[in-house]
Amino acid sequence: MSSQHLPQSVAFEEAEDAPTSRGCGPTFGDVVAERLSRRDLMSGMLATTALSLAVSPAALLTACAEAPSTTPSFTFEEVAAGSDTTHYVPDGYRADVLVRWGDPVLLEAPAFDPKAQSADAQARQFGYNNDYIGFLPIDGRPDHGLLVVNHEYSNEELMFSGHSPKDGKPFEKMNEALVAIEMMAHGGTVFEVLRKDGAWSIVSGSAHARRITAETPMRIAGPAAGHVRMRTKANPDGLAVRGMLNNCSGAVTPWGTWLTCEENFNGYFWNKAAAKDHPHAVSLQRYGAPAERYCWGRYHERFDVAKEPNEVHRFGWIVEIDPFEPNSVPVKRTALGRFKHEAAANVMNKDGRFVVYSGDDQRFDYVYRFVTRDKVDTANRAANRDILDHGTLYVARFDADGSGVWLPLEHGQGPLTAASGFKDQGDVVIDVRLAADLLGATRMDRPEDVEANPKTGKVYIMLTNNKDRKDIAVDAANPRAVNLDGHIIELTPDGGDHAAPTFRWEILVRCGDPGKPEIGATFNPATSPSGWFSSPDNCMFDADGRMWVATDGNSAGRTGRTDGLWALETTGPARGTAKLFFRCPVGAELCGPCATPDNETFFVAVQHPGQSNDAGLSTYDDPSTRWPDFRFDMPPRPAILAITKKGGGRIAS
Ligand code: FEO
Ligand code: CA
Ligand code: CA
Ligand code: CA
Repeated sequence: MSSQHLPQSVAFEEAEDAPTSRGCGPTFGDVVAERLSRRDLMSGMLATTALSLAVSPAALLTACAEAPSTTPSFTFEEVAAGSDTTHYVPDGYRADVLVRWGDPVLLEAPAFDPKAQSADAQARQFGYNNDYIGFLPIDGRPDHGLLVVNHEYSNEELMFSGHSPKDGKPFEKMNEALVAIEMMAHGGTVFEVLRKDGAWSIVSGSAHARRITAETPMRIAGPAAGHVRMRTKANPDGLAVRGMLNNCSGAVTPWGTWLTCEENFNGYFWNKAAAKDHPHAVSLQRYGAPAERYCWGRYHERFDVAKEPNEVHRFGWIVEIDPFEPNSVPVKRTALGRFKHEAAANVMNKDGRFVVYSGDDQRFDYVYRFVTRDKVDTANRAANRDILDHGTLYVARFDADGSGVWLPLEHGQGPLTAASGFKDQGDVVIDVRLAADLLGATRMDRPEDVEANPKTGKVYIMLTNNKDRKDIAVDAANPRAVNLDGHIIELTPDGGDHAAPTFRWEILVRCGDPGKPEIGATFNPATSPSGWFSSPDNCMFDADGRMWVATDGNSAGRTGRTDGLWALETTGPARGTAKLFFRCPVGAELCGPCATPDNETFFVAVQHPGQSNDAGLSTYDDPSTRWPDFRFDMPPRPAILAITKKGGGRIAS
């Protein structure tokens, strides 16, 4: 979700990610120089000990250059950065709309009519604000499979006529029927797709087609299942819940399931007045709940923290869904902890265990890792059904010397005992932010996506930005105060083992405009004026092991460009060179880049096109773009595009 939007009610992360950390994790203001000194020693080139903006990017890159790359470099004609109402791909490529908000998913779905929308129609149509996209091949084919898509949140001011935030919070004019539409526009979609004669289409009438919404029955599994804090009037056993909320990014597993990550769940909860004297006031405060970004609590008691004090504990999880079984019950996997999960990096470790990395997208929050207890059974899909219920959750500490430690979040270990308020592992996972505070994890600049390069095993963490970091609070891993542009950390597991207790890390690139020395960006000087970006968010490795970064936070006023998809070199002399491949229409962020296994298609999710930003207020009635239909009677519509080379072939090769 973007952070640069003006209307208060829409600007989730801007409003929501105010730090709540109580952590006394290491602050390394005095050791940034030490970190640079280490580089100095490595390179023999740097003479400065300050957080030196005088250090040339070339010098830093030389300092961390690796052995010559075997990764093929990116071959495409760069798109020019800028901002207008539509999208751009390089010459020789096409970007076809595959599906838009309101398009039919289930057979009986009515045609989309934004002026006469209903909850019943929306429940059968493609939801709003497409984020994560996963492709699961059918019979191993790169041109036929299931697409799984998250619908993160809703923009009332763009979905409904007459809801301009100029009149205050858009939800002041909301009513129960519109809330019901919103609830059906959340969740996820599964559909079957096929490429024929170079063009992708949705298989109509597929038995796999499915909509998941804020009301879909789900099961709760893992250490918090049945926990006293998971019990509600509707579900007194604490084993079931309706719906998933604010599902941002995700992953697919080697056994063919979809992991979908609940992010800013706090926004759906209501009754700030009741939060202070609430039985779980400390926890609510640490999670920023209730934030009252939506008015669902006005019509649904469960979202009112006074009327249903435990419902809030039942969101903020990673949900596992089997898209090949359309009637399967989604499962909230509580062993992976409760926080604002941006995403889930899926790694098959060399010992056969499954590892999930996940960032907690809030200013000053943490990076986590979960390692399964058991090995994945590659021969028997069903044997992995509950593998995510058993394992160890860790949080990361980044030390100034370029090393790092994974701190286990295990009840009974260290401070995680009843004396600190953690009676059992259920308490640890429900309040994992509070547990991580006690362990001294490193407070990061809003961890968004984490992805592992399947070819090299190196792990990349997108730290999108953090306007609140003060000079005295910079540390080696978050070295810039008022970090408006973010940076990317490259983590190397010790011994190539994703379950190892320790790792090494480097900053791959500090983002922002290299033409403004005060920003301190460190892109490779080979990067063109269109090639740099701000605010990395999602990340993808293509079938050739090359890195692509999608952004959320660029705009015409601040960076002279919309968000988009950039190729980023990670190895060899070109390391740190970025190049613009896809440019969003105004107001949109780019989500969900997903490459097919043959690298011939990239699916991309254009989220919240036309959302207000520094270009001005944008509403249903007066939007900044009507992308992608450009019809006077259609508002802008979040949509998924299939990007291919004209005439076929591998992308960027
Ligand atoms: Fe949903 Fe952190 O972006
Ligand atoms: Ca974001
Ligand atoms: Ca988003
Ligand atoms: Ca995101």
